[in-house]
Amino acid sequence: MTAIDYSQKIPNNVNLSSDKRLQRALENWQPDYIDWWQSAGPTDFSQNDIYLRTAVSVEKDGWAHFDYVKMPDYRWGIFLEPGTSERKIGFGDHAEEQAWQEVPGEYRNWLRRLIVTQADTEPASVEQQRLLGHSAPSLYDLRNLFQVNVEEGRHLWAMVYLLHSYFGRDGREEAAELLERRSGNADHPRILGTFNEPCGDWLSFFCFTMFTDRDGKFQLLALAESGFDPLARTCRFMLTEEAHHLFVGQTGIGRVIKRTSEVMVENPGKDVREYGAIPLDLIQRYINFWASSSTDLYGAEISSNAANFFRSGLKGRAYETRYEDHQALEVPYAVDRFIDGKLDRQEVPMRNAMNEVLRDEYIKDNLKGINYWNRIPEKEGVEFEFHLPHRRFNRTIGDYAAGRFDLEGQLIDEATWNSKVDEWLPTPEDYEFVKSLMIPERERGKFASWIAAPPRGINSQNIDFEYAKL
Ligand SMILES: [Fe+2]
Ligand SMILES: [Fe+2]
Repeated sequence: MTAIDYSQKIPNNVNLSSDKRLQRALENWQPDYIDWWQSAGPTDFSQNDIYLRTAVSVEKDGWAHFDYVKMPDYRWGIFLEPGTSERKIGFGDHAEEQAWQEVPGEYRNWLRRLIVTQADTEPASVEQQRLLGHSAPSLYDLRNLFQVNVEEGRHLWAMVYLLHSYFGRDGREEAAELLERRSGNADHPRILGTFNEPCGDWLSFFCFTMFTDRDGKFQLLALAESGFDPLARTCRFMLTEEAHHLFVGQTGIGRVIKRTSEVMVENPGKDVREYGAIPLDLIQRYINFWASSSTDLYGAEISSNAANFFRSGLKGRAYETRYEDHQALEVPYAVDRFIDGKLDRQEVPMRNAMNEVLRDEYIKDNLKGINYWNRIPEKEGVEFEFHLPHRRFNRTIGDYAAGRFDLEGQLIDEATWNSKVDEWLPTPEDYEFVKSLMIPERERGKFASWIAAPPRGINSQNIDFEYAKL
């Protein structure tokens, strides 16, 4: 078991104490991080004991330790999956060469850009979620929110370690800027669109952790293949934490669907709103918004940057080992271009379509979640089917941003879009209604009117366990 050294100011398994220069850089950054957490992280609750898990070892079975922690005292640190010096680069022009333990000079700028882009999403999501603690539907959910928040904070640490350790002065400057940008700030926003969207209610939070954190999963899977070994090992460990975030989103929406289905069965013909539940079609509109916005995060269909990242061995494909051709030169990729108002299927070199290749995996994974949700009304005896919007729906990046497409991906005109948009995307009234339900429930074992209890608690605790001491 590779234990984490907690005797140090910055817990780590990277032998920080033997690198005084790095240690100083990180210790300089730490007070600014705490300031950021206090000013842009969860509002209040900093004096409350929260039942959180902390990484104590980086081995698969021993990394999660549960105990009461006050969030500002959380042991954020630097944990890399243990590596072997034998690792080879798995794809691109450098396939089969020894993985890099230092930054490859010719790719330095691309690599820094990849790390900064990933890093920027971590504090952004904490900022987006900062007010949600006040309206948590239960102590169980409150605890899950804070678990996600502290782990996104740790993901920032993980990326800042790479910047400080491997990029010198410009790395330190980038690390400082990561604490200066703010989600949704007009002058100094976060880098990627979805991470500037407001996430003001819990239905949004669950959609975010389902769809936006899932983008994180696939970006991390692609970076976990990187020929730059410290990045690959960092991302592998982050993926273990990411799984919980996705669980929170998928089961969270599932519990909202369950509650609504129960109300529908108990009160046939009635509007579920009267019983403080959320209509299923409203949930679908939230899904349409967050799924389409998060689909944008993969970038344009055809991208020379994506080709360069792959060619250079910096960013691979998710599950790269499942492919036979690690050069991605043999088989072309068929993509529906949208040019001059027309859809046109074209075969392009796969390297240029790497964004689309990753997006394919993302969509497959999303569909599994939709299937999971569809079993819930079915089991309750309610007829309703959830759908994932087509990848062309409501896009603001790439070819499809230039046109209007319906939920099935059919090209439509502006007038049709305008007449349908209120059925497809959340309306001001939807947001208003959801907001009206955001009344905190703080009694142990109790849940707000709009969400069912989970089948089991966290870490084998009961559902009425005191997950947060308020
Ligand atoms: Fe993260
Ligand atoms: Fe996450």
